[in-house]
Amino acid sequence: MTKDKKDWKAFKSTGLRELALTAPYMHNGVFETIDDVVEFLNKGGGDDKNKSPLLAPLNLTKEEKQALKRFCLSL
Ligand code: HEM
Repeated sequence: MTKDKKDWKAFKSTGLRELALTAPYMHNGVFETIDDVVEFLNKGGGDDKNKSPLLAPLNLTKEEKQALKRFCLSL
């Protein structure tokens, strides 16, 4: 916690092991399923003023989203 405004909402990424057993997801449990998380990321994530421009929409195909989900649930 730096209390520097530029670091607002910046925090260490959570581990992804055992994701199949740890729903709901994100720090506030906002997503019930991995599909919800993948859809959120596919849209480029949330709309925060400090969000990196690197976090842009991914435009994944249905197959790519399914592959990501299967990967997440395999961990
Ligand atoms: C398509 C690629 C990605 C996938 C499939 C993915 C997957 C996930 C999943 C499943 C979670 C929820 C974990 C949980 O609640 O137990 C998560 C959270 C998180 N991911 Fe990713 N992620 C991706 C890209 C990224 C990128 C590019 C970053 C950072 C540059 C990132 C940073 C984070 C952070 C900080 C959280 C915690 C968010 C919170 O608790 O609110 N992820 N990710």
